[in-house]
Amino acid sequence: MTAAAHAEVKAYPPSAETVARAHVNAAKYEEMYAASIADPAAFWGEQGKRLDWIKPYTQVKDVNYSFGNVSINWYADGTLNVAANCLDRHLKTRGDQTAIIWEPDEPTDEAQHITYAELHRRTCRMANILESMGVRKGDRVVIYLPMIPEAAYAMLACARIGAIHSIVFAGFSPDALAARVNGCDAKVIITADEAPRGGRKTPLKSNADAALLHCKDSVKCLVVKRTGGQTTWIDGRDYDYNEMALEADDYCAPAEMNAEDPLFILYTSGSTGQPKGVVHTTGGYLVYAAMTHEISFDYHDGDIYWCTADVGWVTGHSYIVYGPLANGATTLMFEGVPTYPDASRFWQVCEKHKVNQFYTAPTAIRALMGQGKEYVEKCDLSDLKVLGTVGEPINPEAWNWYNDVVGKGRCPIVDTWWQTETGGHLMTPLPGAHALKPGSAMKPFFGIQPVVLDPQSGVELNGNGVEGVLCIKDSWPGQMRTVWGDHERFEKTYFADYKGYYFTGDGCRRDEDGDYWITGRVDDVINVSGHRMGTAEVESALVAHAAVAEAAVVGYPHEIKGQGIYCYVTLMNDQEPTEELRQELRKWVRTEIGPIASPDVIQWAPGLPKTRSGKIMRRILRKIAENDFGSLGDTSTLADPSVVDDLIANRASK
Ligand code: WT7
Repeated sequence: MTAAAHAEVKAYPPSAETVARAHVNAAKYEEMYAASIADPAAFWGEQGKRLDWIKPYTQVKDVNYSFGNVSINWYADGTLNVAANCLDRHLKTRGDQTAIIWEPDEPTDEAQHITYAELHRRTCRMANILESMGVRKGDRVVIYLPMIPEAAYAMLACARIGAIHSIVFAGFSPDALAARVNGCDAKVIITADEAPRGGRKTPLKSNADAALLHCKDSVKCLVVKRTGGQTTWIDGRDYDYNEMALEADDYCAPAEMNAEDPLFILYTSGSTGQPKGVVHTTGGYLVYAAMTHEISFDYHDGDIYWCTADVGWVTGHSYIVYGPLANGATTLMFEGVPTYPDASRFWQVCEKHKVNQFYTAPTAIRALMGQGKEYVEKCDLSDLKVLGTVGEPINPEAWNWYNDVVGKGRCPIVDTWWQTETGGHLMTPLPGAHALKPGSAMKPFFGIQPVVLDPQSGVELNGNGVEGVLCIKDSWPGQMRTVWGDHERFEKTYFADYKGYYFTGDGCRRDEDGDYWITGRVDDVINVSGHRMGTAEVESALVAHAAVAEAAVVGYPHEIKGQGIYCYVTLMNDQEPTEELRQELRKWVRTEIGPIASPDVIQWAPGLPKTRSGKIMRRILRKIAENDFGSLGDTSTLADPSVVDDLIANRASK
């Protein structure tokens, strides 16, 4: 969108009712924000009291952002346990309150309401099972589960005994699973027989079996029964969760963890190489997840809150499990998809469980919008108070539909911008504080200092009406601490390009009013249906196929997915470019990475545009994929400029 178009953007102020109810109104936002920047240690020292500490902290912030010596510590001398904060401390006051509402894939199957007391028992049993399998403080456990309550038990059980979990999204392939198990040297994989989703079943256990062929012999597998589907079993390696849970003790003492002990690792894609293990720690992460959950969604005691993400992504970590449970909330966990059995499923679930806060991704909104508003209008959505989006910029059409058709113009939409690395929301409007602009992430959360830099010089662009790369000055408690096993990669990725700042990888505009608009990634990361993918990963999957000599992958605008995956493939000399081969390569990438990486377009490329030094000019490939041939820029520096004409002439029709 151009600057001129933004000038006419209509702003939507919160209703008087929303303001009156809100934890934070406009004046309070200004006051708290100023305080959070003026004295971060005092501000976060106070916020840390949201949690129960075993040994209270005396230090709040100890951060060094200088390249070569980056170290980030919050509450460093305090000790606590995350599971105790999400469970035990609520037992007295809300033991009988529902902690998790579980809505299964099939609407005709019964939903479960799991109380805090029950969640505590289930977590303790799972913790005891893990201990009996030899898992100890600091060990890694990979979780490869469907969206079932056992996923939450498993996360909290790890937290309880001080094991570090690493969740692998159930849509990932055996190869991707094995890479992550080996990457963090996990002792145990927790999986299920099958994952039902949208009426289909993914054979998780057999995927795990295939992955385990590439892992150390000592890796054990704990199997949850979900469907009762048949699985192969290896005695001594495979453990039956349901049997063991019958015997396991209902209590397991929470381990005393240091605030800076790792809580979890979550693999995410970057612009180069294989996914990196983002490390989040215990104290600061939980303070930040809890605070943002309460304030961004204006969550109040007694509300029913639903985030539609999967626990395989950071959104599920912070805003299905840790943030809501730390706040004693009722959090809904949904196993299915928005369009099964039909496009009214989300709204039926909202009606059935009287959802107050609803948090989803723009790609889901766009997909449902295309099905028509009848699916929404037949449901009673009168309990909704706040709507949220996450994962990618939301286009104004989708925003307006969400606002008008779903929210009936009375529910503020919080467009939350953040990343796996940031642990929680960094920019978002607050429901009762800001006049919303469709598509804008609006304002920094407390303690967050966004800066817009000139991409070339790295100089801060001051004032309003500026656009550049988005960096964050200074730290916040929810920030990632390192890349698992590779601190150097952490520093190189986030602190090398723009010294003294955390570099987000996103572009950004600060408009004339000082509000922020995320313009998308400035690196070779693409965002497909809100899932982050490194083009390098897809490329390396493609070139691993015997028929492929070379591949270059870029994103292109896609109506539903936000971005689609466009692959330029150069075949080996003796290979015929057939339709069968195209299909085979698609399938190949799905097996190598997972269905989310499935190429949307494969164009045969006899040659790729390269500089004389052999560097692929992705800028040109992006333009061709976007159907934008007018602004290819200077192609005279290419080793062979004629390849560009060929690519344009043979541009794949989509
Ligand atoms: C990237 C992070 C954080 C949870 C989900 C994705 C993009 C995320 C927004 C938003 C515009 C957004 C950014 C960011 N992104 N939220 N509200 N508006 N862009 O986490 O997989 O780590 O991806 O998603 O490009 O860098 P992730």
